[in-house]
Amino acid sequence: MNIIQAQNYDQLSKIGAAVIAGQILAKPDSILGLATGSTPEGTYKELVSLHRQNVLDFGKVSSFNLDEYYGIKRSDPQSYYAFMYRHLFSHVNIPGENIRLPNGEAQDADAECKAYEKLIAASGGIDLQLLGIGANGHIGFNEPGDVFPAVTHHVSLSESTIIANSRFYSSREEVPRSALTMGIGTIMAAKRILLLVSGAAKKSIMEQALYGPVTPNVPASVLQFHRDVTVVYDF
Ligand code: GLP
Repeated sequence: MNIIQAQNYDQLSKIGAAVIAGQILAKPDSILGLATGSTPEGTYKELVSLHRQNVLDFGKVSSFNLDEYYGIKRSDPQSYYAFMYRHLFSHVNIPGENIRLPNGEAQDADAECKAYEKLIAASGGIDLQLLGIGANGHIGFNEPGDVFPAVTHHVSLSESTIIANSRFYSSREEVPRSALTMGIGTIMAAKRILLLVSGAAKKSIMEQALYGPVTPNVPASVLQFHRDVTVVYDF
């Protein structure tokens, strides 16, 4: 693993954007795996800035997002779909048809997950997957458990995730109870992985993930088995 200590969030965001920019410059038709959460917001801002400065062309880029709440409309400002347009897609020239997220409005969640997994495989696979880490060690919405879920699936969110994500809602009751997420196998199939970890509150879970035993109780620990992971943290 390539582990980089940034001095602060601003530098973490610039390094994160530089890694993604390098990927796009080396392969303009890169397939990016993208993530939501507070952590990548600064990275997206930097990517938008690089695009505005004429450094980065998203014209041939494709993307697959990691996850989406289930039972939420794409037009809901809390949807990950809306998040991605707000922070990145509306500000760069990525073609709309190249943008994919699991559809949280799908009637049949399992069919949607199967179709999403197939679409990723048919694309030829993700070149660079951006990840954050949940306070409980989750990546995407792969929650701690007894097994590493292989493929895109419908998952019930753990109480700790619902509490963590309730900061975006006026009450805990409003937080969606389930989500559609790429599986650990889907994530591990990406050619490269970029994990961003921000804030000292994540120090202990990051250390467990990177240096502790590989266990589904800490889903991010599986990254120890991936051959090309860059971690950037800011504490
Ligand atoms: C959510 C997302 C994850 C993200 C995590 C951490 O639950 N599903 O992909 O990594 O939150 O978010 P934050 O960066 O806000 O701490």
